Amino acid sequence: MKVLVIGGGGREHALAWKLKQCERVHIVFVAPGNGGTAADPGLRNVPITDPARLADFAAAEKVALTVVGPEAPLAAGVVDLFRARGLRIFGPTQAAAQLESSKAFAKEFMQRHGIPTALYATFTDAGAAHAHVDRHGAPIVVKADGLAAGKGVVVAMIAAEAHAAIDHMLQGEGARVVIEDFMAGEEASFIVMCDGTHVVSLATSQDHKRIFEGDQGPNTGGMGAYSPAPVVTPNVHARVMQDIILPTVAGMAKDGAPYTGFLYAGLMIDEQGRPRTVEFNCRLGDPEAQVILMRLKSDLFDLLMHATEGTLDQVALQWDRRVALGVVMAAHGYPATPRSGDAITGLPAGSAELQVFHAGTTLEDGRLLTSGGRVLCVTALGESVRLAQQQALLAVRGIRFDGAQWRNDIGHRAIKPASPPAAPPAAA
Ligand code: GLY
Repeated sequence: MKVLVIGGGGREHALAWKLKQCERVHIVFVAPGNGGTAADPGLRNVPITDPARLADFAAAEKVALTVVGPEAPLAAGVVDLFRARGLRIFGPTQAAAQLESSKAFAKEFMQRHGIPTALYATFTDAGAAHAHVDRHGAPIVVKADGLAAGKGVVVAMIAAEAHAAIDHMLQGEGARVVIEDFMAGEEASFIVMCDGTHVVSLATSQDHKRIFEGDQGPNTGGMGAYSPAPVVTPNVHARVMQDIILPTVAGMAKDGAPYTGFLYAGLMIDEQGRPRTVEFNCRLGDPEAQVILMRLKSDLFDLLMHATEGTLDQVALQWDRRVALGVVMAAHGYPATPRSGDAITGLPAGSAELQVFHAGTTLEDGRLLTSGGRVLCVTALGESVRLAQQQALLAVRGIRFDGAQWRNDIGHRAIKPASPPAAPPAAA
């Protein structure tokens, strides 16, 4: 069978890599793909991004199943378009994708359905937004209402940061911001697959959004991730399903927009293990997908077919018990002004324990060049977070491109500090 993966980032490379291992899959198209999917003889890049042309392509090629990676085509209604033409596709409809494409929609939905999240207010008027910050003080969170590739959120530790974010985000006609109370705790990514009614949870994960080590500096789309996330204990997992995921899926169905697709709840888990929703995304996370798919032992094609048949209640997922950890290598100048065109060398051969998933890369005349902010995600499996981190970093240090940036501390929250050296014996 033929499958089509829509998108061109690391998440889509990981989806395509996993799908090509499935027994019933003979061809994996990736639209538009990247340098890594172009170089992989098992995958075929298709230079199309327009949703209507993608549907034409899927119909002409008799593609059995399409899976959508990024949020932009979902918000543009690619799922509605495919379905209207009788083409099988996994992802949320445009109406359901509002859970990600509009922060204001998501907050109002959560409030109406009693889903735990921070208190919030929505503003189109900068003066009113500034007055709100003056009243509440910092820390406080400012979110741009539309899609912002994971970079539309400012966690302002001082009021001046919040005021600057408001001025920046409220530029342009129709701009809206959501201002939320700050939530303390540890973040985790909780991703499930939904078929409209049934839900199956994927392995837990945690990403690192800040550019610099120690979780400092500006937000990025994600500089690395690992799975599982120890902060999601079995008790927290049960609470997330009970208090957040199941009411969301039931609420969307009740509101007339049944949710199909990957649903990603960004969580904040407080010291008592209480989970609250930071945001919803309507897709797999990136780079969370890379580490989750490294650990998935079940057949992904089979799973996606169940998800599009409405029979996810019939699946039981199998996971590699080891830890997967991915280190993102980003371009010079990322996240503000990423540079393109740097030659990439030193890529290791992939194995069952190590994969380099490409994102911002392109193949030009046989040369692999950087072409985006996040360039590669070097992903390794290991018996512990520390061992997976060591394996990923060993490979990272062999890969070269000018201006490469990465973090050496991905997974640090899950790595227990080494025991202090034993005290010397007391003098006699
Ligand atoms: N890693 C964050 C995201 O995918 O939105």
